[in-house]
Amino acid sequence: MAIEVKPILERFGAEVSGVDISRPLDAATAQEIVAIQNRWGVTVWRDTGLDDASHVAFTRIFGDVIHAPPLKDGPRFSQPELFDASNIDRQGNIVDDEKRRITNRGNRLWHIDSSFMEVRAAQSLLLCHEAPPHSAPTWFADARSAYDDLPAPMKDRIEGLEARHCYFWSRRKAGYPYTEEEIDAFQHATHPLVHVHRGSGRKMLYIGAHARDIVGMDRDEGRELLDELTAWVTQPQYTFSTDYRAGDMTIWDNLACLHRAGDFDETLYRRDMRRTTIRDPQSPGEPGDVVQDMFRPAREVAAG
Ligand code: OGA
Ligand code: MN
Repeated sequence: MAIEVKPILERFGAEVSGVDISRPLDAATAQEIVAIQNRWGVTVWRDTGLDDASHVAFTRIFGDVIHAPPLKDGPRFSQPELFDASNIDRQGNIVDDEKRRITNRGNRLWHIDSSFMEVRAAQSLLLCHEAPPHSAPTWFADARSAYDDLPAPMKDRIEGLEARHCYFWSRRKAGYPYTEEEIDAFQHATHPLVHVHRGSGRKMLYIGAHARDIVGMDRDEGRELLDELTAWVTQPQYTFSTDYRAGDMTIWDNLACLHRAGDFDETLYRRDMRRTTIRDPQSPGEPGDVVQDMFRPAREVAAG
């Protein structure tokens, strides 16, 4: 059966059908899916039939799968590759923990997964296991086309600049009371502001809520520039949202786009979302348990 690709925006996002991704795929089909993902940046898959194990197995067509950091009260799943993007605790109840809620609220800011890590994330695959009865979408923003359309003076201004990213910076923006000095002590990662997306050869703006400062630039000026670029990328012509029913999945390329969780009343409705994440093969180092490594020192600082 031929794979069908239905574009969502002219240059960005596509709904894909015509292939059963819950079963092992032959190499040609896997390659075709990788090529579709490279071209469109975000793909939407309906009624996948995936469970935890086949979700992780399918993820491997894109490369090395990152392990999720452990949650304080333990994981809900047996696969160490699954990030818990739900609002549900281990007992199956809606989370009643302000810190976890702030973390989820942080997801509603435009961001790039793991940009606070030296080892960047490439694809994220978010599978819906349970959806609220009304809209609770994910939003996506096309950071490649937005770069293409930037006025030439802005392209010149940002070429060669680097940003410092920190997880705790975005959490502060989401309402967690870290001070600037406390955040200074946490781990940061430095990445070029303009990045060439290897799968398409196109440039993209590598920004988002974890980006805290521009290297070598006055703090306020750097933040103004980051805010200006985020506002540019998230203009309506570059964005779309997708709703979920159980079994639906979105795949986004963190080296091509920004994303954010949509608004819904997380205290009233269950939303069970599970994510796998691919390690950027261009990042330095060896495949391994990288997110866990990053949070280990942070937890020690937080605990100490
Ligand atoms: C994520 C994320 C968005 C959503 O899991 O990284 O940003 O809609 N999720 O849950
Ligand atoms: Mn995310």
